[in-house]
This record gives sequence, structure tokens and C-alpha cells, in this order.
Amino acid sequence: MSLFDVVPVSVPDYRRRARRRLPRFLFDYVDGGANDETTMAANVSDFDRLCLKQFVMRDVSELDTGRTLLGQASSMPVALAPVGMAGMMARRGEVQGAKAALRAGIPFSASTVGICPVEEIQAATKSPFWFQLYMLRDRDFVLSLLDRARKAGCETLVFTIDLPIAGMRLRDFRNGMLGGGTLGRISQALQLASSPLWLYDVGLKGRPHSFGNLREKVAEAENLEAYKAFVDSQFDPTVTWKDIAWLREHWGGKILLKGIMEVEDARAAADVGVEGLVVSNHGGRQLDGIASSLRKLPGIADAVGDRVEVFMDGGIRSGIDVVKAIALGARGVLIGRPWIWAVAARGEDGVVSLLDVFQKEIATAMALMGVTRVGDVTRDLLESCEWSIG
Ligand code: FNR
Repeated sequence: MSLFDVVPVSVPDYRRRARRRLPRFLFDYVDGGANDETTMAANVSDFDRLCLKQFVMRDVSELDTGRTLLGQASSMPVALAPVGMAGMMARRGEVQGAKAALRAGIPFSASTVGICPVEEIQAATKSPFWFQLYMLRDRDFVLSLLDRARKAGCETLVFTIDLPIAGMRLRDFRNGMLGGGTLGRISQALQLASSPLWLYDVGLKGRPHSFGNLREKVAEAENLEAYKAFVDSQFDPTVTWKDIAWLREHWGGKILLKGIMEVEDARAAADVGVEGLVVSNHGGRQLDGIASSLRKLPGIADAVGDRVEVFMDGGIRSGIDVVKAIALGARGVLIGRPWIWAVAARGEDGVVSLLDVFQKEIATAMALMGVTRVGDVTRDLLESCEWSIG
């Protein structure tokens, strides 16, 4: 980056800035994936294996990037993904993300393991948002969570089903965030000492750092060992398709199942009657060695796209990527790390700017492909970039 690159524009720009600002263990927590991170890398690189087609001489004066997502009007087919501990990356990070999404006219998802409780997000936005649920063993507590989310105005429940147990994220051990003993604690103290901006803005002014939705269950988010112990002991690995009926009984709103990678599971999801699903491998943070979510998208969209709204996430880094996912059959996409890097680097305004760039990229790509509506972005506008001159 040169001295004159003063305005962050793209996702890599925000990532670089977030890296400079965050203590290393927090940057790594966001940036990393499971094991060798091969799936995380494939999520991104598989987008480059698809090419768009350019068509000319069509009237593209009336461009519209809007689309309804689960019945909700959205300025583009993009939503902010649930990301745990966003409030450790930026001061009251979930509130900043939700306000940015509102300004951009897209849905925001609040994580079960967010720092800001759903009530704080509701008070700041006065608008509906999506609530993401991890199933916990204590079902009475889950019921109380659902009740709080409903009262906070959430109509859509993002039920994440790909985390019966936590994936092996090696960076979290390597940098002392988990299980590093005395050496790990010394390393963390040094990382904190070399992040003065974060220390003041988030470490000091961004308190409290408790898990706002889980206050009765787990203490400070700074104690990540305690958090890991909570996940290991409280996340419920016994969950099966039968539990969707239980959820239905207690949740009157829409359900979006997040974490489906196989057609068989997508069919089961459509059979139990949820409104939508997200083709997702949790951003490559769970099972390393599986395919990218982009690769799994067309098969799943073909199988159940007429019965449920099919979303995807993982590796979206630009509006061009959004267009590719839509062309492969996605109703919409979720973005995780991009909004976290933007909020860590420049707060709410950073997320709004990044989303503005995404929307312009989507509009520009559509115009140059010769289409004016998201519904006209179809698979025949794609081709494989693999080529041979033989
Ligand atoms: C996540 N993700 C996630 N998903 C979820 O359902 N609940 C959660 O609390 C979290 N927490 C979380 C933390 C961090 C740091 C990351 C990076 C991701 C997964 C997230 O919703 C989404 O599936 C991925 O982030 C999508 O991949 P990209 O956009 O980050 O490549």
C-alpha cells in the first residue's frame, strides 16, 4: 500500500486495515479457518474459475439491483452474515453493523454469540433484523432466547446447523488464544500492547465485553478459554431433523437453515418446510477438506430452488462474486468476514461504504452483461474460465 492509498475501497483494503488495528489473536480469529484452511481458500478461489459473459447493444438504462429476501425488500441480494464477537472487533460492533445494514437497505443477522444483546440492537435500529440461533442443550434457555429475539422485532430465525462441535481452528491455538498457558498469556499481552487504537476504542470504550444474549450462561468474551468451554459443554450435538418441528412449535416466524452442503440434506430441509437454506461451510471454519460452497450451490439450487429460497455464503469478496452466485441459482448471499474487516477498520461508515461499492459493482456488472434486473442474471451468463489452446 502506498502513502497515497488513503481511502479503503475493496475487501482486501479493509482487511489490511483491520490487520493493522486489531490485536493479532482477534485478527486471526476472524481471518482464519479450520485446519489447513484449504476449504476456506477454495471458497474464495473457486469464484475465479467462473467467467461472466459480456453482451452489448441492449438498453440497460433502467438498472435495478433490488430483490426480496424471505419476503423482505432488499436493495441488493446481499445480507450481513451472523458473526460471533463482532463487538470485540469494533466498539459495539453488532450495533454498528446493524445500523450500516439499515442504511444500505439490506438484512442484518445477529449472532447468538454476539457481544451486543438483541435488545441493544433493537434500541439502536428500531427495525427488524435476523436472529441466528445455535441450539443449546438447555432448551428452556433457548425458549427464552427466542422470546427475546421475537420481542426485539426479529421475524427471521437463521438456524445454524453445521456446528454440532467446533472445528479445529489452528490459528486460535498458535497465537495463544486457546490453550497457550503462561506463554500464551504473555503473547496475548504483547499483542494487546501493540494495538493502542483498539485498546482505547474497543478494549476500553467498547465495554461491556460479555456475550449479551448469553449473560446468564457465560462470562466475559475476553476469557476465550471459558467461551470455548461453554461451546463444548452447551452446544447441542444431538440435534436432528426432528428438532425443526420443535422449533416450529415455538417460533412463528421464518426459518433459514444455515450450513447445508449436500443435495440430500437440502431435500430434507425442504421436506421439513423451512422457508430457506444457506449453502455454507461456515466460511471454511468447520470441516476442512470439503468443497467450496460455490461449487455445491448449483446442484442444491436445481434440486430445491423451487421449494425454498436458496442462499449461499463463503468467499464472496465483491459485487462481481455476488453476481456469479446469483447466476448459479442463489436467491441471495451472506457476507461474513468482509463486513467484519470493514467495521474493524472504519466502523459503521466503513461497512456502508463497502456495501455501496458492492452495489455499484453489481449494477455495473449487470449493465455490462446486458441485463437490468437481478432475476435476469441466469446461468447462461456464466462460462468456465478453464481453457486450452490445443
Ligand atoms: C462466523 N460465522 C458464524 N456463523 C453463525 O451462524 N454464527 C456465528 O456466530 C458465526 N460466527 C463467525 C465468526 C467469524 C469470525 C466468522 C469469520 C464467521 C460464519 C458466517 O456466518 C459465514 O457463514 C461465513 O463468514 C461466510 O464466509 P465469508 O463471507 O467469511 O467468507
